[in-house]
Amino acid sequence: MQSEYDQVYAAWKSDPEGFWERAAEGLDWFKPSEQVFAADDGVHGRWFTGAETNTCYNCVDRHVLAGRGADTAVIFDSPMTGAKRRFSFGDVLREVKAIAAVLIGLGVGKGDRVILYMPMVPEAVFSMLACARIGAVHSVVFGGFAANELASRIDDSGAQLVITASCGLEPGRAVAYKPLLDLAMSLAKVKPEHCLVLQRPELVAELLTGRDIDFETAVMEERERGADIACTPVGATDPLYILYTSGTTGQPKGVVRDNGGHMVALYWSLSAIFGMKPGEVFWAVSDIGWVVGHSYIVYAPLLAGVTTVVFEGKPVGTPDAGTFWRICAEHQVKVLFAAPTAFRAIRRDDPEGDFIKAYRMPHFRALFLAGERADPETLKWAERMLGVPVIDHWWQTETGWPIVANPLGLGLLPVKHGSPSVPMPGYAVEILDDAGHPAPAGTLGNVVLRLPLPPGCLPTLWNADERFRAVYLTEFPGYYKTADAGYIDEGGYLFIMARTDDIINCAGHRLSTGAMEEVCARHPDVAECAVVGVSDSLKGQVPCGFLVLKKNVSRETVAIENEVVRLIRDEIGPVACFKTAIVVKRLPKTRSGKILRGTMQKIADGVPWKMPATIDDPAILDEIGAALRERGYGSVAL
Ligand code: COA
Ligand code: AMP
Repeated sequence: MQSEYDQVYAAWKSDPEGFWERAAEGLDWFKPSEQVFAADDGVHGRWFTGAETNTCYNCVDRHVLAGRGADTAVIFDSPMTGAKRRFSFGDVLREVKAIAAVLIGLGVGKGDRVILYMPMVPEAVFSMLACARIGAVHSVVFGGFAANELASRIDDSGAQLVITASCGLEPGRAVAYKPLLDLAMSLAKVKPEHCLVLQRPELVAELLTGRDIDFETAVMEERERGADIACTPVGATDPLYILYTSGTTGQPKGVVRDNGGHMVALYWSLSAIFGMKPGEVFWAVSDIGWVVGHSYIVYAPLLAGVTTVVFEGKPVGTPDAGTFWRICAEHQVKVLFAAPTAFRAIRRDDPEGDFIKAYRMPHFRALFLAGERADPETLKWAERMLGVPVIDHWWQTETGWPIVANPLGLGLLPVKHGSPSVPMPGYAVEILDDAGHPAPAGTLGNVVLRLPLPPGCLPTLWNADERFRAVYLTEFPGYYKTADAGYIDEGGYLFIMARTDDIINCAGHRLSTGAMEEVCARHPDVAECAVVGVSDSLKGQVPCGFLVLKKNVSRETVAIENEVVRLIRDEIGPVACFKTAIVVKRLPKTRSGKILRGTMQKIADGVPWKMPATIDDPAILDEIGAALRERGYGSVAL
């Protein structure tokens, strides 16, 4: 099929408001918008101002009202427990209404914040929708974060309620959530009155009288009572959720998502970019704790009347590298979305694709990869093994949906390996040099998006308009700064090469090395530290910490290194994947005292590096190289 991309992108460019107004027609609104885009509203304009709607209504009720109540909305598949369940849109409506009734009973109303600290179970999805139904703002915290991170999100959001489970399941162990919740509740300054706790048979938690409420008992009562909670009309510009993401400091940024623009963008993207039609099955292998989970496990598929898969497991080891293909075959998945790291793990365990060959997948149409750079080798391997298009696409928590992609729904463009392809309608992507001048084609620079941002992108950070301006809008006036570096080739294809801030991408997870440095520095024996991301063949990057000890510390350095590793696990969580801390005598710095993290990273990766002209003492780089070689990292080139 000839791609319609050029016409569709041109149609958006010539009339952006008309484009999104037409896209909004596919959804139900309680009240139409007064303005499609109000440029002087909010920090950088707001979409669909004056409109009233409800995201849960559009995800669930309207499909039931259209006679699709018996169609499958959610498939739950957990190789961790062996559970497999299907929920129709009618089932989802019943569950969501019951949870909504429980929330209302606990005093939660429109605009109140609810923290979800949940594993990948259907109740987590239903709880998100229940919040949306009553106009409450959910904030999901990934289960791999520690108590401290949970506490900071409870505080920043000012949460009224926490919904959690007794445990998450990781291969070979149950992760007890309750002790983490209890610690977080004691650390938090904001004290939610109640916690709803979903008891899982794998590890039952002891509930705290007065504060903790058994999720299933409370929901069952409402279910049996036939709870019939209607959808609360909310403004299109009212917040649907807050999702915290790593920033350039230890303080996470609360990305705000509104109701109206978000619905429109996701609804449009699922058909135009991902090529999905109502009734088909879409599977995004992620976690509801990340943006991919919010957008493409929960909201986009359900908005579009598409069946979504909720998966509790790993690409390998649960039980083997065939799990993805078992699920694709069994549930007739049409499009799969995963992180490249998952495919590196599968390729490592099944290099010849024997598991893939063992399953019949006639429905399978395409694989989408995002969350980190899709290395061409893995991408080509997946193309060869699967025999379907493998589509890299690039976006961020802040945008909520793809900025640059190859749109399957509009007809694929030629693939260039290593590039996520071209800007989607809504996004004008440009490359600027550090002084803010346009960079010529093929020249590396700052990847920026010309304002205004399209529907679905963050209107601001939670309670932090100034931080939002400072982080994203100030350095390049008139643009949103993505903090990615890359170039656009002569053909208009974007190539993402690196981050321009302290963020690293580890196993598809976005982590701040600055946040890790803050924790390392809290160790009583550490005088100074630097954390850099080192290349890893499976996870893309893993953090590596360099520690300079205070004078007069005479303890064993190994003990201190282990304590720092433990500290990061306790304060940030296992997701930080911080396993290496190295005590060194000194850190390399410029004459003005800036730590040369980039050079240290290159030395660790064993790639060529140049002696920085501004270095204070070149001998320190040799010390770093020697310390790294002792741990089996890199070798010094040049
Ligand atoms: N709750 C609690 N702990 C969790 C967790 C969760 N939800 N998710 C991960 N962890 C823990 C892991 O158990 C591991 O702990 P360990 O240090 O005790 O082994 C640690 O966090 C690091 O996890 P991870 O980086 O995921 O490594 P892994 O070895 O468990 O798995 C992969 C490796 C590649 C299989 C896995 O990272 C993966 O599937 N990645 C895809 C990620 C993804 O889908 N991201 C979504 C973005 S689109
Ligand atoms: P997150 O907000 O967790 O989705 O992480 C967003 C960041 O991940 C981006 O800013 C990029 O640095 C990186 N990223 C996401 N997708 C891609 C991709 N397809 N190619 C390269 N980097 C990517």
